[in-house]
Amino acid sequence: MSLEQAKQVAASRAVDEFVTNNCIFGVGSGSTVVYAVQRLAERVETENLKVTCIPTSFQAKQLIVKHNLVLGELDTNPEIDVTIDGADEVDSNLTLIKGGGGCLLQEKIVASCSKKLIVIADYTKDSAKLGDRYKKGIPIEVVPMAYVPIRNKIAALYGGELKLRSAVAKAGPVVTDNGNFILDWLFTNQDLDWETVDRNIKMIPGVVETGLFVKMCHKAYFGHPEGNVVERS
Ligand code: A5P
Repeated sequence: MSLEQAKQVAASRAVDEFVTNNCIFGVGSGSTVVYAVQRLAERVETENLKVTCIPTSFQAKQLIVKHNLVLGELDTNPEIDVTIDGADEVDSNLTLIKGGGGCLLQEKIVASCSKKLIVIADYTKDSAKLGDRYKKGIPIEVVPMAYVPIRNKIAALYGGELKLRSAVAKAGPVVTDNGNFILDWLFTNQDLDWETVDRNIKMIPGVVETGLFVKMCHKAYFGHPEGNVVERS
């Protein structure tokens, strides 16, 4: 079984366990969520489910539209029953690094409005401590004019290196769905109190959001190459 199939089994399991008729459903972003939306579309068709989908990114919105699902927004659906999203890394406490795809801000907003945040991932995202497996750091979304002082302040507070994320198909920085830049913080201390770190970084003027999701995840499903799914809650 391939890594893609490992993502698919995790996604299907989560959709089957958590999506119910008439639910308001948060749609995460990234490559694993594609399988969740596919499974949701199958269930909507075969079981005639009524589900309203709230996107966490431009990509998620496109997925909802492509599968003819009902597109909602927080203005009319501020309380979400369940959100299913991917992650870049999940530690033993269900603390997450998210934002590898640059969608951390809307993902965190939607997660914060959800009764349950369920993570779906392949087994390579499952780690004991943040940084054990994911080596690209913690994404931090920042207002463009402030990226240099923010970079200096985080390095002074906690050390490590902060890299302005640059685009592949364009010269210059990545610009998020919200018009901001992303600093990828290559932290060196894996034993930090992530809740405090998250709070302190967000106190810096110009920081919009961090990719640290602390005490937000209800349950994680990790797909394995053998086809089994390991659950953590
Ligand atoms: C998007 O910004 C991210 O938070 C993704 O949810 C995360 O990077 C997981 O993506 P994959 O499912 O593609 O690994």
